[in-house]
Amino acid sequence: MHASNALDPQSPQARAIYDLGIVATIVFVLIFVVVAGGIVYAIFRFRGREGEPEPKQFAGNEKVEIIWTVIPFLIVVFLFALTLRGMNRADPPPAPSPDLVVTGHQFWWQADYPASGVVTANEIHIPAGKPLSVRLDSKDVLHEFWVPELARKMTTVPGQPNNIWIQADKPGVYLGTCSEFCGTQHAWMRIVVVAEEPSKFEAWQQAQLQPAQTATSDPAAKGLALFQTSTCMNCHAIRGVPGANAIVAPDLTHVASRKQIGAGILENTPANMRKWLKNPQHVKPGVLMPDFNFTGQQLDELTAYLDTLR
Ligand code: CUA
Repeated sequence: MHASNALDPQSPQARAIYDLGIVATIVFVLIFVVVAGGIVYAIFRFRGREGEPEPKQFAGNEKVEIIWTVIPFLIVVFLFALTLRGMNRADPPPAPSPDLVVTGHQFWWQADYPASGVVTANEIHIPAGKPLSVRLDSKDVLHEFWVPELARKMTTVPGQPNNIWIQADKPGVYLGTCSEFCGTQHAWMRIVVVAEEPSKFEAWQQAQLQPAQTATSDPAAKGLALFQTSTCMNCHAIRGVPGANAIVAPDLTHVASRKQIGAGILENTPANMRKWLKNPQHVKPGVLMPDFNFTGQQLDELTAYLDTLR
């Protein structure tokens, strides 16, 4: 995983935006050079010198005025046409039904794949080379979904879904982020896009569709019991665990298969999971998960259980 780079487009959609940006920048630089160059030239070439007579005064020059109206007009028309082409490539109309629905929450992302029924959080898998129509929604406040290498950025508005297209030319891991301030943990609302060969993506989908395996031996079995008897189920779903189907917080059915915890704040290792469970507020102040004051043994059991959710 590397830092995201808006100047390194990895999809036709992102490239359309990048190309437009490059052309526009070249045009702007040329205009700047011509205008600033003309000013600098005039300053030195026509500066007043002692003893020289007053220069000839004149007003109006039809030819010059036509030139400096027509040229900017043509530049604007040129950029307008390029922008239309770029919009058409980067932001075509959405598909009738989305391939992926991403919902912003304070402070994490829910990802639903309507066709297959997969539900996950913060880590989106996509098949490389295929454009996906993504519907963006929000459960609470304005967020903004942005994976700079793969797609344009787009605000998520509660009750007013927006749509973008996302695509990756080749397999790889691409980082995204929430790019609209949404509260204390706005900075830790990362998104990981894993682009895979279509067959690997299919295998991932199949694995995600499996219900969680039931923990039968200790300490994981004790951890499962803890999950069921504490208030975890009020917010988290684990498919296969009776009653655990709330969708307030990330679905944990395959939490151990994900790369990160807390929408990017920790690498997903058992040690970090224990740290997170010990006091989420310490790891990510303002996160909606409370501190449960688990004992050391309870932390070990819960960590062992969550680690079985692969
Ligand atoms: Cu969500 Cu910023």
